Amino acid sequence: MSEKRQTQLVSAGRNKKWTNGAVNPPVQRASTITFNSVEEKRKATQNRMNKTLFYGRRGTNTHFAFQEAMAEVEGGAGCALYPCGTAAIASTLLAFLKTGDHVLMVDTCYEPTRDFCNNTLKRYGVETTYYDPMIGDDLESLIQPNTKVLFLESPGSITMEVQDVPKLTDIAHQHDIVVVIDNTWGAGVNFSPFDYGVDISVQAATKYIVGHSDVMLGTAVANEKHWDQLREESYLLGQCISPDDAYLGLRGLRTLDVRLKQHQESSIKVAKWLEEQPEVDFVRHPALASCPGHEFYERDFSGCNGLFSFVIKGSNPAATTAFLDGMQHFAMGYSWGGFESLVLANEPESFKQLRTVANPGFTGTLFRVHIGLENVEDLIADLKAAFERYNEACK
Ligand SMILES: Cc1ncc(COP(=O)(O)O)c(C=O)c1O
Repeated sequence: MSEKRQTQLVSAGRNKKWTNGAVNPPVQRASTITFNSVEEKRKATQNRMNKTLFYGRRGTNTHFAFQEAMAEVEGGAGCALYPCGTAAIASTLLAFLKTGDHVLMVDTCYEPTRDFCNNTLKRYGVETTYYDPMIGDDLESLIQPNTKVLFLESPGSITMEVQDVPKLTDIAHQHDIVVVIDNTWGAGVNFSPFDYGVDISVQAATKYIVGHSDVMLGTAVANEKHWDQLREESYLLGQCISPDDAYLGLRGLRTLDVRLKQHQESSIKVAKWLEEQPEVDFVRHPALASCPGHEFYERDFSGCNGLFSFVIKGSNPAATTAFLDGMQHFAMGYSWGGFESLVLANEPESFKQLRTVANPGFTGTLFRVHIGLENVEDLIADLKAAFERYNEACK
């Protein structure tokens, strides 16, 4: 019987094998696992890749519960765990690339993903071509005989373009290219990558899965075809996490659905309010018609969350400082996905480093906001006061 998402998030991974009858699995700390007999050791060694206690780096029952839950929620064959989202991205790329290969990377990727390609992969002799997130059929023209990985991030970091994932995966698979997506915005539930042909779904679980801004955590869920390679390569890179962090990831999953619903309701309300403000040039919220790729959001996503951007008319760094300093509820911080509201500003020049093919083409300051779980009227009042400070500083 296929369960509805809320039921799945409550029950996934709560196997008595891991929980021992409690609602939640105990935090099982271990480096060393000991065996009672030669036969028991032989069996554990043989099954070490398959959620069997063997040695701490392969995980304990707390990890197994979280891995099982993530694989079930995203619909893949298995889930590898990493100390942060960046480690999940880097390890997944390393698992499927070698010297002489070529990777197609979306131009709107998270900045450290770009830096990893431009520095680490380059040093290992892997070439990267960046492509426009809205490229569609033209992706075909960028494929080379040595293209081995297509990397998607949808919506894109900061500028929020939603990609036509099924079209791009179709093209890639005609050339035997492995498709990886950074699915952090989709949070594993609002976008189901395996239904659209993706091979590996990576998340900064640091964001919505954990949901409380207190843990760094990465996950990569792979389909059957790619699971063994991803798992073993990540293991050889020494990727593992503490059982406490696995526990907190699992705990976050239980409330993910209700948190996302509230983030969604409030963020749409704030985005619509922003669209009406005279200072705002445009809003980039995937759930609003004005966002590039909104039609793919409507077709492929079951919901949104609290993260979006808006661009104001003009750029005045002193006024931007006045906007940001003095906010009551929006704190400045390089993250999102927690219960709290956040804001960051990007001046248009910063995109010269962040984009090489998809010039965002606007001249105003971009604000990226994360709409948290505070009362939405308080958040709107905070933004209203910020615009007043901005206008005052412009005089
Ligand atoms: C889209 C996206 N992917 C990956 C990451 C990296 O995650 P972590 O900070 O856990 O390394 C981030 C972090 O902000 C992100 O926004």
